[in-house]
Amino acid sequence: MKVIKSEYVLSAVKPAQYPDDALPEFALAGRSNVGKSSLINCMLQRKNLARTSSKPGKTQTINFYRINDLFYFADVPGYGFAKVPKSVRNSWQKMMETYFTKRETLRGMIQLVDIRHAPSREDQQMYQFLRYLELPIMVVATKVDKISRNKWNKHAKIVKDTLQMSKEHPLILFSSTTKMGRDELWQRLEALLED
Ligand code: GTP
Ligand code: MG
Repeated sequence: MKVIKSEYVLSAVKPAQYPDDALPEFALAGRSNVGKSSLINCMLQRKNLARTSSKPGKTQTINFYRINDLFYFADVPGYGFAKVPKSVRNSWQKMMETYFTKRETLRGMIQLVDIRHAPSREDQQMYQFLRYLELPIMVVATKVDKISRNKWNKHAKIVKDTLQMSKEHPLILFSSTTKMGRDELWQRLEALLED
């Protein structure tokens, strides 16, 4: 996809605040610090459109980005970040559950995991939850630049096995730093937009 226009639209914490122009939407999911906001910037070739940080817990609301007036990316807070007080974590979880289950314009889910580590219990639960939603899922194993090439296959297999990934769902090796996987992810998204 040639990105002609990409813009931050709004941040929401409840359905009444979501954009209501009915464009298709792709949402990110993954633990804090895995690289969700970085992936959006990489896809759009924008340095800091989605705010990133080396400290987990940067994204705290559902942030909507409109691309080419054609579709949205929804950036979301990550899970598994222990430093946030439990009450805040619970309210994020409710916010996300509501979003994932109620958002009718969702066209697909991009679940991120860190290629370096076996997916956590929470990653496994998230994958199961997304499967239950019956939306197209793309699993993105990111930060590939942080391990050597001869380990990619081994780590990819650990991700597939640990998540018990369905053959229907692609695993895309990705790096926001080197842009590896960017074209492949665009192809997947474009195919879903044409459906
Ligand atoms: P939360 O908003 O806290 O949920 O985090 P996030 O998932 O949005 O992560 P974010 O994009 O803010 O990235 C976290 C850190 O990882 C930042 O320091 C990024 O620069 C770094 N990072 C993200 N993707 C990559 C990648 O592919 N390679 C490398 N080397 N670093 C990355
Ligand atoms: Mg973020």
